[in-house]
Amino acid sequence: MKKLSSLLLGLVFLLPFATPALAANTYTSQQVGVHNVAADCWTIVNNKVYNVTSYLTLHPGGQVAINSLCGIDGSSLFNGKHASNVNANNALANYYVGDLLIIDTTTPSVPTNLSAAAIYPNQINLTWTKSSDNVGVTGYKVYINNSQVGTSTINSYISTGLASSTSYIFNVSAFDANGNVSATSSSVTATTTAVSSAITLNTPTGLRADLKDHKKIKLTWDAPINHASVKGYRVLRDGIVVGTSRNRNFMDSSIVAGTTYSYTVVAFNAAGSTSPASNSVSITTKDKKIHADKRNNENENKNDKEHDNKMGKGNSGHNDKD
Ligand code: HEM
Repeated sequence: MKKLSSLLLGLVFLLPFATPALAANTYTSQQVGVHNVAADCWTIVNNKVYNVTSYLTLHPGGQVAINSLCGIDGSSLFNGKHASNVNANNALANYYVGDLLIIDTTTPSVPTNLSAAAIYPNQINLTWTKSSDNVGVTGYKVYINNSQVGTSTINSYISTGLASSTSYIFNVSAFDANGNVSATSSSVTATTTAVSSAITLNTPTGLRADLKDHKKIKLTWDAPINHASVKGYRVLRDGIVVGTSRNRNFMDSSIVAGTTYSYTVVAFNAAGSTSPASNSVSITTKDKKIHADKRNNENENKNDKEHDNKMGKGNSGHNDKD
């Protein structure tokens, strides 16, 4: 029994500590505002909420003085009279019901100085001057042609996936943690750059092919005009790439005798863009079949003789029987 009673006693002491602390109630100024009569009088003092209904008739300074606080933020009235009065502050503390939930309804300032830099055929970089806010700017919304395309937590944004040589209208707006969004900034228009190959890579010319022997074809060609950005050339045989060359020649050694091949070359630059194809040139490799056929015939005749000799001996009897 003694054990049980001490256990229960322990529980009684433990329970208050085991219960999780309740979060303070919070009230908006609108919620406090409905308790605005003497029979139901709430007030706000220094961002705390008090239900002083039962104190109205107890107030040493008279009920009328407190009536004026019902349903409003009474901070300035209370502080004006009692800011340093310990008794008044202690009395007020008895009627505390929760904290004031401050809802931020102030929008951040409008971003300014938006500028756009067209960097690549598919990319434009944006920067602007930071906005300010009474609480803090959380981020910025970015709009292209008046549709939001993304957000940024900093005052810059890289817009990718754009079409080349195309104009886009950009705007940004600032928002805070409470979802207040500023008006959109002044718009800025920028045009993506053109695809580089179209302007820098011209067509290689003068492609010619020489038969070196049965096993090799040498191709040579002339550089395109304005060839400064040319990184190399791709050689195509019957439309399929058979090799690359940094110089204006290429040796194709993967050829078969007695075959006609058609070649073209294209130039490419460091960005991987290619030029249009050069002129096409066709060449037929030497036919080694004639020699091969002669040799084959000789071999076949020789084999036939041997075969006949062998078969003649074995078959004679057999044939005779037939
Ligand atoms: C809910 C808010 C208020 C509480 C809890 C409160 C509390 C008190 C207390 C405890 C006293 C006695 C002070 C002492 O003996 O030291 C007092 C006195 C007084 N209060 Fe308030 N008070 C409140 C609001 C106001 C307001 C808004 C006014 C007027 C603007 C006001 C005017 C007075 C006056 C005139 C006295 C009489 C004595 C003095 O002048 O200090 N009170 N109040």
